[in-house]
Amino acid sequence: MKTVLVIGGGGREHAIVDALSRSPQVGKIYCAPGNAGIGLQAENVPLKDTDVEGLKAFALEHAVDLTVVGPEAALAVGIVDAFRAAGLKIFGHTRAATAIESSKEFAKRLMAKYNIPTAAYRSFSDYDEALAYVSARPFPAVLKYDGLAAGKGVVIASDLEEARKALADMLLDHAFGQGKVVVEDFLTGPEFSFLCFVDGDRVYPMPLSQDHKRAYDGDEGPNTGGMGAYTGLPFITAEDREFAYMEIMCKAASAMVSEGLPLSGVLYGGLMKTPQGIKVIEFNARFGDPETEVVLPLLKSDIYDIFEGVASGREVSDPEWSDGVTLGVVMASKGYPGSYQKGFEIEGLDLVDAQVYHMGTVIRDGKVLTNGGRVLMIVCGGKDLAAARACVYEQLAKIRCENLFFRKDIAHRAFF
Ligand code: AMP
Ligand code: GLY
Repeated sequence: MKTVLVIGGGGREHAIVDALSRSPQVGKIYCAPGNAGIGLQAENVPLKDTDVEGLKAFALEHAVDLTVVGPEAALAVGIVDAFRAAGLKIFGHTRAATAIESSKEFAKRLMAKYNIPTAAYRSFSDYDEALAYVSARPFPAVLKYDGLAAGKGVVIASDLEEARKALADMLLDHAFGQGKVVVEDFLTGPEFSFLCFVDGDRVYPMPLSQDHKRAYDGDEGPNTGGMGAYTGLPFITAEDREFAYMEIMCKAASAMVSEGLPLSGVLYGGLMKTPQGIKVIEFNARFGDPETEVVLPLLKSDIYDIFEGVASGREVSDPEWSDGVTLGVVMASKGYPGSYQKGFEIEGLDLVDAQVYHMGTVIRDGKVLTNGGRVLMIVCGGKDLAAARACVYEQLAKIRCENLFFRKDIAHRAFF
């Protein structure tokens, strides 16, 4: 039996642990740092996801056969390079290849060079030049900080004043660091997520999904990490999917091989169906959260085979997926994505007859407490979205906690 270490401690990692626990080859699963729900299916290890030395020592000491990396932060500090140098098998991209997510400018240059459809752009390190360029163009202006900025590095400025402030934050005050700013054309259309397992030129697609980034119903309110997701997108045709697979995901994988930076992990295409066709909004070098929680429950193949094959650079059989669809709703702490309190008891979890993925929870004195902005995600499968949606909201009503809120319109594009 195989021993696996999963790195991370959110809903995404709970879904990965859950999928691994369905593998007949997997015996022991560790998760660092894990959370209360993960702790029911794996052994939580109190190490930070970026503590490369600590994690490496743990994997060596506990004879871990395979490590699976969830968060981009761990990839960006070079955990894969360090594990491989120590002879440890690990699923995730090298630090250099993670640039496809960690540097907006790298990703934009790659797309321009290999003719992958995306918004036209220019990048700037000088504030005055950036401001002059933005002033001469139509609004809204899309301004992206060139580096990891915890989801706060993108500003859609509706007028010059907003743009001036954002550029000053990024290029004069260096709010996120010393990076450049990418200014790109504003695109319109529904967004969706295309996750693929990628090993060099080999690209194994997962079902498409859609996240809901705004905090409140009707796609109102501030941007969050994601308030819910579903598969079975009503607005994507088979042709759209084929185009996105061939012209975006496969081309990006080959481009990285040509650049001497082969991918080895998950490539996440954040795509938009614009009136001019499907275009890339961003690439991520990891599973999406909350997309993973609705995608992996559909996987019928053994996920250990896929992870191990990709990590070893060996071809694997095409993953098989269930025909049905899934829908998941996030329960978040009141105040999120702004400031919020933690430590509220969650009751009724044992009554829920659906998949519950923990995103930010902790157990204290036998009680499950809220411990993050996004706290839980309830996921149901069904033959169609109406069935999955009815199931999720019925089950979610059983959870009692005074400090949680959730969106009531997940998958609204399929219904309203
Ligand atoms: P990113 O971090 O690059 O995914 O950007 C965050 C969000 O900003 C995206 O999910 C989009 O909703 C929005 N966005 C980014 N780039 C553009 C663009 N070129 N046109 C319109 N909206 C965009
Ligand atoms: N759901 C957005 C992300 O994982 O980046």
